[in-house]
Amino acid sequence: MEQKLLLSQLATDTLKGLSSNPKYLLSKYFYDDEGSRIFQEIMNMPEYYLTDCEHEIFSSLKEEITQAICPENKLFNLVELGSGDGLKTKILLKHLVEEGINFQYTPVDISAKANLELVESLKTELPALQVEAKTGDYFQKLKNLNGHASIQKIIFFLGSNIGNFSHDETTEFLSQLSAYSNSGDKVLIGLDLKKSPAIIMDAYNDPHGHTRRFNLNHLVRLNRELDADFDIKKFEQQTTYNPQTGEVKSFLISNADQTVQIGTLEKTFRFTKWEAIFMERSRKYDFQTIEKLALNHGFKVVQNFTDQRNYFVDSLWEKE
Ligand code: AVJ
Repeated sequence: MEQKLLLSQLATDTLKGLSSNPKYLLSKYFYDDEGSRIFQEIMNMPEYYLTDCEHEIFSSLKEEITQAICPENKLFNLVELGSGDGLKTKILLKHLVEEGINFQYTPVDISAKANLELVESLKTELPALQVEAKTGDYFQKLKNLNGHASIQKIIFFLGSNIGNFSHDETTEFLSQLSAYSNSGDKVLIGLDLKKSPAIIMDAYNDPHGHTRRFNLNHLVRLNRELDADFDIKKFEQQTTYNPQTGEVKSFLISNADQTVQIGTLEKTFRFTKWEAIFMERSRKYDFQTIEKLALNHGFKVVQNFTDQRNYFVDSLWEKE
């Protein structure tokens, strides 16, 4: 008799992605502890302008952002989805604490290790700050956040994390965000802007090999966690940019006819030579699209905070 397997979310999603035609894997699974570490290296590359731009925005506009997010100086909850190392947010957190502003900070991240390190560092850097970290998928965590409806929420979703979503996922995410927001709540979303393709390609085309390792680490994770036998030497990494859709796409491409066994799934997957696995999308936006996204989900754009070069925007929206 066939025994039904009890599969983890990673296993279920992997089965679905590798059984699809064309094949894909979900980019949220990049961020195991090793993946989070490699992403730190990506952020440290000079070509990866996104982090520097958002850092610049938070450093040079912290007064303006403070003014815009807490005009009445009432208690509020600053929720950050995908907080990671919190480096950019810390600039603002420090400023808010120094100004004596009354708020609590709720970082939400999929990496337990990143969360732990963030909380530890905040204990020494900003001991007065009230922090309650949550570990998990933010689509899920979002649901639990409306408990204190009386406290105004400011939800941060920085770093162009939204760029990873497909159109459907973006719609689902913003619908949820809207559903769990009360009138007057605000969201601050970091979006990467369309710019010269040469600049975008330099950030993702990997002069140092970090992006390649970042992608291959996903397969290493499947080897470890799902008892798979991917031979990572048999996969090449490739990035493309479509200036019309604004989508950067990353692929792992099989350089041989091969089969891969995934023990946990009790299944074998066939890869033909030069077949690609779609690994990640990083979408680039324009202001018109951002405005439309906000309006379509019951928000109005309050203010756009951009860097000097207009490469990146932190767009502040208010729930109507
Ligand atoms: C963390 C999703 C913002 O899409 O730019 C960087 C991830 N992937 N280089 C991005 C990433 C390859 C990054 N985000």
